Amino acid sequence: MKPGRPHKKTAEQLRSHRWYGAQDLRAFGHRSRTAQMGYDRKDYAGKPVIAIINTWSDINQCHSHFKQRVEEVKRGVWQAGGFPVEMPAMSLSEPFQKPSAMLYRNFLAMETEELLRSYPADGAVLMGGCDKTTPGLIMGATSMNLPTVFFPAGPMLRGNLRGTPLGSGSDTWKYWAELRAGNITEEVMKEVEDGIARSPGHCMTMGTASTMTSAAEALGWTLPGAASIPAVDANHQRMATDVGRRIVEMVWEDLKPADFLTKASFDNAITTVLALGGSTNALVHLIAMARRAGVALMLERFDELSRTTPLLANLRPAGKYLMEDFYFAGGLRALLAELRELIDGAALTINAKTLGENIAGASIYNDDVIRRRDNALLANGGLAVLTGNLAPDGAVIKPGAMEQHLLVHRGRAIVFDDYDDLAARIDDPALEVEPGSVLVLRSAGPIGAPGFPEWGQLPIPKKMLAQGVRDMVRISDARMSGTSYGACVLHVAPESAVGGPLALVRTGDEIELDVPNRTLNLRVDADELARRKQAWRTPPPHYPRGYGALFSRHITQANDGCDFDFLEGTAPIPEPEIH
Ligand code: FES
Repeated sequence: MKPGRPHKKTAEQLRSHRWYGAQDLRAFGHRSRTAQMGYDRKDYAGKPVIAIINTWSDINQCHSHFKQRVEEVKRGVWQAGGFPVEMPAMSLSEPFQKPSAMLYRNFLAMETEELLRSYPADGAVLMGGCDKTTPGLIMGATSMNLPTVFFPAGPMLRGNLRGTPLGSGSDTWKYWAELRAGNITEEVMKEVEDGIARSPGHCMTMGTASTMTSAAEALGWTLPGAASIPAVDANHQRMATDVGRRIVEMVWEDLKPADFLTKASFDNAITTVLALGGSTNALVHLIAMARRAGVALMLERFDELSRTTPLLANLRPAGKYLMEDFYFAGGLRALLAELRELIDGAALTINAKTLGENIAGASIYNDDVIRRRDNALLANGGLAVLTGNLAPDGAVIKPGAMEQHLLVHRGRAIVFDDYDDLAARIDDPALEVEPGSVLVLRSAGPIGAPGFPEWGQLPIPKKMLAQGVRDMVRISDARMSGTSYGACVLHVAPESAVGGPLALVRTGDEIELDVPNRTLNLRVDADELARRKQAWRTPPPHYPRGYGALFSRHITQANDGCDFDFLEGTAPIPEPEIH
């Protein structure tokens, strides 16, 4: 690979030199223990040590190809004259981890930062893709600020049911609703179960995984085009080796995250997410990622950029196609090229080229999958940030993925106090619900649930499904899976568990949603709300000890990115003493 920038470091200036190069007892120990692993001095002496943070696990279906990919990354590192060291990190498997993988995003961020700090890493490759792994790895690496490349897992292949493509998540919810409505049999549902996830790789709808890997690419963290390549495509394998070669060069060039993470690069990422019809989870993750880089990103910026950014990717859940189609249509580079006037092409990326240089020559090969700007799916407004007396610090909705007649809606609340209450009553034939009712779920936020789970797509009551109702206004302090859809108001802040107004709503209250005017209001007079607030009591903590207690004490609210308060910011942390 052609070097991108002049080399700035000598072998003696490598961070790892402090571990390996000194003539003292400690360095003797490091060298002898490296010899114990079968390496000779000439394997590593004077070479950049590349930490490959691998989130492979036997219980992470989306990363099941990482055992092979890590060898392909190592091949590139060796070729370029580096010394690869694989370091396993907590694998956040979205469907398996309870109560929510989000509970552990910051755990992975801490682990990534501290692995890089405590070991002799000169540079890093981050291997992730399943939802929270991307922000978790990137947050940690941003704080550590060593030369780093993000290696996205890549989407899995399209799902299949009797010749019909199936999309991760989106079709699970759809067919599950049809089963509950009695429109399909258990036998068909079993075929969906076996056909919806056919290969390694992350979800292939425009869910949180594809949203965040694409955002990472727009931010400059990946090689050009990396986020769109299907996990099992041979191009993905070759990209792994390219990553290995590139990270060694980056160490010599001393190209670090702080060199390319700027306000402009975060605007590029937000614009990308909006044009993709990406997951609402991106708001939480990008705010946390930006603040680690010293960029004071606020929720309002998403709404501002949403007003000028068209929805171009015709991908589920907002559209029709899947990531494999997107890749063949030209992938993210083609989409970014179509957005050229809306992004800052001067932003630097990890290959030492600008984003503009990286998308030069990219073409759209199927303009139904990646729409041209004059034929956008939505002219603007893919995400909307709402405020009002029900969400003083903000809430979010995805107007493109809901029934449009609900954009302005006034209805009576049906309140569920927590998830168990919801599960117990939602299908009760006695539930007094009508199509215009507003379903409210509380105790589902970062502290209240706990862990800010993806419960925000409250199920439509069976009674309503039988009447043909497929969408209703739903409000919660939860998140929603990026593969979900519907008129779901999410991330209501402050959450109910800390006394946010959601805690004060009662069944029968009138709620007014006005997406065009970005408002969400509870039509109850202020005196009555003050009375209810006075009677409200803080719920007891979920966790008496352990990580959960740390989480509950230090997690910030959704509008602040849900980072731990003690991990935010850019204050320098001393390098470890080598003695
Ligand atoms: Fe891993 Fe969806 S389950 S990305």
